[in-house]
Amino acid sequence: MCQGGCMRIKYLAFLLASLISTTTLAAIPGLRDDISPTRLQVGAAASAKLITSGTDTKYASVLAHEYNLMTPENDLKWGTIHPRSGTALSSYNFAPGDTDAKFALSHGMHMRGHTLFWARYNPSWLTNGNYSATQLTDLLTNHIQTVMTHYKQYFPGLIVYWDVINEIKNAGSGVWAPIGNSFKIASIALQAARKADPSAKLCLNEYSMEFSQNIYQNPTYLLAKQLKQANIPLDCVGFQGHIGSNSVSETKWRTVFSAFAALGLEVQVTEFDAYYAPSQQYTNVVKACLSVSKCSAFVTWGFTDKYTWLGTSKAPLPFDAQYNKKSAYTALANSLLGK
Ligand code: XIL
Repeated sequence: MCQGGCMRIKYLAFLLASLISTTTLAAIPGLRDDISPTRLQVGAAASAKLITSGTDTKYASVLAHEYNLMTPENDLKWGTIHPRSGTALSSYNFAPGDTDAKFALSHGMHMRGHTLFWARYNPSWLTNGNYSATQLTDLLTNHIQTVMTHYKQYFPGLIVYWDVINEIKNAGSGVWAPIGNSFKIASIALQAARKADPSAKLCLNEYSMEFSQNIYQNPTYLLAKQLKQANIPLDCVGFQGHIGSNSVSETKWRTVFSAFAALGLEVQVTEFDAYYAPSQQYTNVVKACLSVSKCSAFVTWGFTDKYTWLGTSKAPLPFDAQYNKKSAYTALANSLLGK
């Protein structure tokens, strides 16, 4: 009796249901839609293990929806990618990094390469190896050549920025110290990186520079200046931006960004998180970045409090542990929109 009408109602209900399910995320703009990627890329650190998690599928969908840049949190570090001794390809484990790369590629994201050199997160064969300066230099240059060539070859154009050097200020106490001082280590690594992929942008990545009393006396600033003067290839400086209980004003951020920009370098915020007055901290750093034309990326270290390296209770990220947007998210989105 009601056949025609019922069919119509059922069809409308079906249309509505499919519309809701396909548009729930897609219709709501993500952070990546708030600003042109040619002005500023917006990213988060992530891991292959979580991207492919069968139980927490929200992780991958939120990541892809919100960001156009991702940094493998640990998957490109020596400890993961170079687990066995030696320089042969069989010493490497590219699988997690490649999972990240495929994910990024399929969602129109770029990837930041982190990191080719660090005093920490190294495999035990390296830290316990008692290598000479010459052997360490060979290991480092070989590693840079192999890892950069792999991504250039299999994922061309995906990784534009590489943290060639992470935390040079701690290099003196680590496994690499026998090679020499910061300038020597950075020169060797940066030159090897330029040779491996001439089109990549090469960065020094550092923490706490925003707390310097005088940025022009900061050791990493002085190193960057020295490297530029010596014509060693260096294109950018990453500010990790782990903000604990001290806040950093917009003016302070602008001052430190501008100091490096004046050396001809791009600057990027590469690992931001903040647990003291987080909304204000997000606003300060993003506004400062947008006011310096050479500031080209803003990346948080994770995106949900569920998996932050600082522990969920610190709550330093834009999404809570249930993937709800927090006030830090709103502060970040508004700042990107210039509000
Ligand atoms: C951290 C990761 O978040 C942890 O999962 C890992 O156990 C140690 O490294 N500065 C950096 C990042 O440059 O690579 C660090 O990441 C956080 C501090």
